[in-house]
Amino acid sequence: MFDIQEIRSQFSILDREVNGKPLVYLDNAATSQKPNSVLEVCHTYYTELNANVHRGIHTLSQLATEEMELSRRKIQKFINAEHDFEVIFTKGTTEGLNLIAYILTQKLQKDDEIIISYLEHHSNIVPWQMLCERTGARLRVIPIDENGVLQLDYLDQYLSEKTKVVSVNQVSNALGIVNPIEEIIAKTRKNSDAYIVIDGAQSAPHFDIDVQKMDCDFFVFSGHKMYAPMGTGILYGKREILEALPPFHGGGEMIATCSFEGTTYAGLPFKYEAGTPNVGGNIALGAAVDFMNRVGRENIQNHENALLEYAQRQLLEIEGLKVYGEKAKRTGVVSFNLEGVGIASDVGMILDKMGIAVRTGHHCTQPIMSFFNIAGTVRASFAVYNTFEEIDRLVEGVKKAQRMLG
Ligand code: ALA
Repeated sequence: MFDIQEIRSQFSILDREVNGKPLVYLDNAATSQKPNSVLEVCHTYYTELNANVHRGIHTLSQLATEEMELSRRKIQKFINAEHDFEVIFTKGTTEGLNLIAYILTQKLQKDDEIIISYLEHHSNIVPWQMLCERTGARLRVIPIDENGVLQLDYLDQYLSEKTKVVSVNQVSNALGIVNPIEEIIAKTRKNSDAYIVIDGAQSAPHFDIDVQKMDCDFFVFSGHKMYAPMGTGILYGKREILEALPPFHGGGEMIATCSFEGTTYAGLPFKYEAGTPNVGGNIALGAAVDFMNRVGRENIQNHENALLEYAQRQLLEIEGLKVYGEKAKRTGVVSFNLEGVGIASDVGMILDKMGIAVRTGHHCTQPIMSFFNIAGTVRASFAVYNTFEEIDRLVEGVKKAQRMLG
């Protein structure tokens, strides 16, 4: 049973007003709100359990360790990883992608190639550019067509024995376009030995994820976009790959032995978890997974798709409104502009005055904006607690913005 009011009642923040109006929170691709069950886990952690993990013989340290490792196993199940030690806690997708780009440094040399796509967030562009600077490798970018759809013929052309990494997102944060990663992965496996990296920041909150079936080498996502606290995230990597690659940060927890003569590294997952982790946050990420499982991932996806379809249909009735990627397969996001009427941030400010939170601007995807020859878009993004009435308020707000700015 999918009971939207019951779901909303689990998010206290949704009861607040903004600028004297009931909040309509449609900036979920930036970060989702957190259910009370997740907030309670954070509170309980700090009031009853707080201790450093994997380090203490004392009871609190052991309890905190057990809870964090339980959370790791929940996330293992959530993405269907084969082993729990393939699940590495990070502070978010950006850290995960930087970590991968760093540990692959020794695997690349001059004239090797890294393939990404036009639809990437800056966090799936810049770490690879930095890797190119370190190694002399070069970046190849799969272009998009006017619908924002990846032109995979170019992937066929680009793939070769020089390709060392293929890194793409499963869902575009700026446009919500769902990329055909199954096809990308199959082509890559067939035509190269490249490492395959999937940025799941915008797919993990919406889709069932099965990293074994997907057959990617790495899958990264953020907790805070899927109902967990800020500063949480996951890097999944295949066992044999993570075991063979060097560590990222050096420090406590990631060593087996340390002396001035040299250091040996700990096994997985600790080799990649130097320093004190965000224990409370990591435990709460497990609670966010519990929340999503309770609601049902299929229910989440169906509801969000219905919201998207409803929003797009209504918005397109507004004359002069353009939806980017209108005809592409999408999830969770509608990104648009009122043509000839002000700029996206003007629309965003008017919506904010009406209590409606959207993101405006380039969404950390300047190449997409350059492609469409725009400075930015207005982006409404959906989560499981959004309602059709909230979409009505968005549409009403956009119409009002058009009247005010026109
Ligand atoms: N990457 C996040 C977004 O798309 C912050 O808004």
